[in-house]
Amino acid sequence: MRKVLIPTKLDKFAATLLSDKGYQVVLDATTPLPELVAAHADTEVLIVRSEKITPEIIDQLPKLKLIVRAGAGFNTIDIKYARKKDIDVMNTPGANSNAVAEEVIAMMLAVSRHLLPADASTRTGAWEKSKFMGHELTGKTVGILGLGNIGQLLVKRLSGFEVKVLGFDPILSPALADKLGVKLSTIEEIFAEADFISLHIPENDETRGLVNRRLFELMKPGAVLINCARSGILNEDDLRAIKAEKKIFFCNDVYPKDAPGPKPIADLADITLPHLGANTYEANFTAARRAAEQTIAYFEQGVTNFVVNKALPDGLSAKFQQLAYVLTSLARIYLGKEGNPSRVETSYYGELAKFDKYMLSPIAAALAEEFAPDQTPTDAAHFFAECGIEVVNREVDNDKRYGKAMTIDLFAGDNPIRKAGARGTITENQLMISRLNDFDQLYLEPTGHHLFVEYEDQPGVIGRIAGILGEKNINIIDIRAPHDVKSGKSLTVVKTNVEVPEVLVDKIKETVNAIHAFQFTYQP
Ligand code: NAD
Ligand code: MLT
Repeated sequence: MRKVLIPTKLDKFAATLLSDKGYQVVLDATTPLPELVAAHADTEVLIVRSEKITPEIIDQLPKLKLIVRAGAGFNTIDIKYARKKDIDVMNTPGANSNAVAEEVIAMMLAVSRHLLPADASTRTGAWEKSKFMGHELTGKTVGILGLGNIGQLLVKRLSGFEVKVLGFDPILSPALADKLGVKLSTIEEIFAEADFISLHIPENDETRGLVNRRLFELMKPGAVLINCARSGILNEDDLRAIKAEKKIFFCNDVYPKDAPGPKPIADLADITLPHLGANTYEANFTAARRAAEQTIAYFEQGVTNFVVNKALPDGLSAKFQQLAYVLTSLARIYLGKEGNPSRVETSYYGELAKFDKYMLSPIAAALAEEFAPDQTPTDAAHFFAECGIEVVNREVDNDKRYGKAMTIDLFAGDNPIRKAGARGTITENQLMISRLNDFDQLYLEPTGHHLFVEYEDQPGVIGRIAGILGEKNINIIDIRAPHDVKSGKSLTVVKTNVEVPEVLVDKIKETVNAIHAFQFTYQP
């Protein structure tokens, strides 16, 4: 019987669901965590909310396999240490988003109409109508940083107020932004133009301290800043230094530590709540149900979709990640030397569609040597954001019957836009590139050394390439030679026993008057 430890105030429904499925559940929100883990060292699953899960806690649970964060933010869990110990960490994305979106709207209205101070004043017998003259939300500009589950829902909930929404999120495609009615903007534009700014990004190494003086200085006088995300993303001292001068209103829900006691932010915030964002019966119930359901699905069906600290989920062969790497590497060479692409468009066919985010790291690794292909999808999303590379996952037409296949297209430049791309699949457990740019039916297994030569079609080219290689004692193992009828171009790909030296590549290029000629080596 697997033991599940729930050391937090989580709706009892999680314990009921798990017990019904035969798990042994310990639900105890009062005993301190170190004591609890010491008493239940045979725990296999830990379901937590904002409790800090440190290496010390993990080390006390040698049988631990899974940590479930019943909520969204997992900055309180040492996910890297968990990975080192082969422990999967999941969250329950979206389970409490509506509660937070509604809290943000409550704060916007409350601060705009001075509800809290007006209530306190009226109770004293005062009648301060002119002091509490307010503003309306309708028709204003709202800026949202982070358009994930909460950010997107906030846009939806705001729709009745007819506001203009500016948004920034590195992984939001222009198509989805359009659908949501969000004007994609830079962080600076959001801070300079919005009347209300709401933060909905995770706290991590990239976002810690991101919202600081540089941005506060851009804000309009009287603008409202709302932080219902995490305290670490906002520099409170910077805000304190500029708040009065700029007449900024600040609404806060989050702290470095959730605990009673004086709050250093008390003088700074116009509204400050005890981390109430997800504190509704509905959200607590949904997060509890999702945590239990995800635990059961993880152990009974191997469902790992919500794991946040794994580069390769169960059900996805590492070969598909190798394929994403190779397709991107080849497309990158075709794109030319002048810098990285500004956009990557991907299509994942068949069952691969559900693993799209796990291809991001190999794609990033093919574009930048310093990025390791086994980094997490979150690392990859940050890499693309930092480099200003937009990633668009296209809807696919599965009627094409490509099976489990993928296409990766890279775009660079504005005028003209340069495009290079490749499609591939895995057949008989081998990587297979079926298309490179407009050369269909390539059917190339890319492992080893390959010489690629593209040229205006003419007879005798393959013979001349073979002759030059033969003169240097280079053995040809295989040849692929697709032709593109539309452009009249041909591509010859020669698999060789050794790498073709650069001087020889240049000689071949010159001899056959090639458009492109390059050597490509892939050793998995
Ligand atoms: P989510 O993962 O669905 O969305 C987060 C979004 O932020 C993603 O789309 C991501 O691409 C984007 N992002 C990451 N770095 C960014 C950056 N530098 N600039 C702009 N966008 C960036 O998560 P969510 O459910 O929307 O929750 C967001 C955060 O809110 C959580 O990480 C959590 O810390 C916090 N949260 C607080 C409460 C509360 O009770 N106050 C409740 C739930 C979540
Ligand atoms: C979250 O990240 O889900 C929240 O901060 C909500 C919570 O656990 O209270």
